[in-house]
Amino acid sequence: MKGVVLAGGTGTRLHPLTKIFNKHLLPVGQYPMIHYAIQKLHDAGITDILLITNKQSWGLFAEYLRDGEEWGVKITYKIQDKAGGIAQALGLAEGFIHPNEKFVLILGDNLFQDSLKPCIEQFQMQEQGAMVLLKEVNDSRRYGVPILEGTIITAIEEKPEHPSCSYAVTGIYLFDYTVFEIIKTQKPSKRGELEITDVNNVYAAAGILKHQFLTGWWIDAGTHESLFQATLFLRQEDEECR
Ligand code: DAU
Repeated sequence: MKGVVLAGGTGTRLHPLTKIFNKHLLPVGQYPMIHYAIQKLHDAGITDILLITNKQSWGLFAEYLRDGEEWGVKITYKIQDKAGGIAQALGLAEGFIHPNEKFVLILGDNLFQDSLKPCIEQFQMQEQGAMVLLKEVNDSRRYGVPILEGTIITAIEEKPEHPSCSYAVTGIYLFDYTVFEIIKTQKPSKRGELEITDVNNVYAAAGILKHQFLTGWWIDAGTHESLFQATLFLRQEDEECR
C-alpha cells in the first residue's frame, strides 16, 4: 500500500508563526512536524510516499526529507499551486496511485500515538470503499463529526455547531481508487475548498464508509494550544522510552 501526506494549506490558525513558515516544518519535540507522519507510515510498512505541499515550501521539505532514504522510505513530491482544499490536494495524487490500489492519506498536522498497522490490515480486508479513524475529543465542533447509527456512519458533518457526538474524524483516511472519481464530481464549499468531508459523505451514502477508533492520544496540531500539547505528549513518550 502507498501513503499520501498533505503539507500544504495556509496555516492561518498558527499565525504569526506560519506567516513565513510552513506549519508542517515547525518543531514538535525533536523533529519538524512532517517527520511524524512519515515515521508512522514507515512503521506501518508503507514506504512509497507522496508528499503534497505548496511551491514556496517544497524545497525545505526536500532539504529535510530528501528522497526519503535516510528515513527508510521513498518520497515523491507534488506541488499544490493554491490551497484549494484537502480533497483538491488529494486529487493531485491520482497519477501516483494505481487503479485498484488502496492507500492511506495523512494530514501532516495530525500527530498520534497508535500504530496504523491494525487499521491497514482491516482495510485490506474491506472489499471496497473508505475508512476513517475516529477519536473522542472534548470539543468536536472543530472537526468533522460522524453521525453514527449503531456502528454505521451515515454521514459526516464538517465543524457542526451542534455536534451529534463527541467523536472527531481524524485526518487519517484509507481510500480505494474510486476516491479520484468522487473528487472530480465535487464542487467547492462555501469557503471555496473541495472538502474531504463531502468526499467521505459519498462513501457514507453508499454504505461503504467504515471506521475504527484510535485508542492513544491524537492531536490536530493546527493551533498554538494544540501544537504545545503535541510537544508535551511527544516529550512524555520520549521520556517513557528512555
Ligand atoms: O484534523 C482533522 C480535521 O482535518 C478533520 O476533522 C476535518 O474533517 C478536516 O476537514 C480537517 O479540518 P481542518 O480544519 O483541520 O483542515 P485544515 O484546513 O487545517 O487542513 C488540514 C491539513 O491539510 C493540513 O495538514 C494542511 C493540509 N492542506 C489543507 C488544505 C486546505 C493542504 O495540504 N492543502 C489544502 O488546500
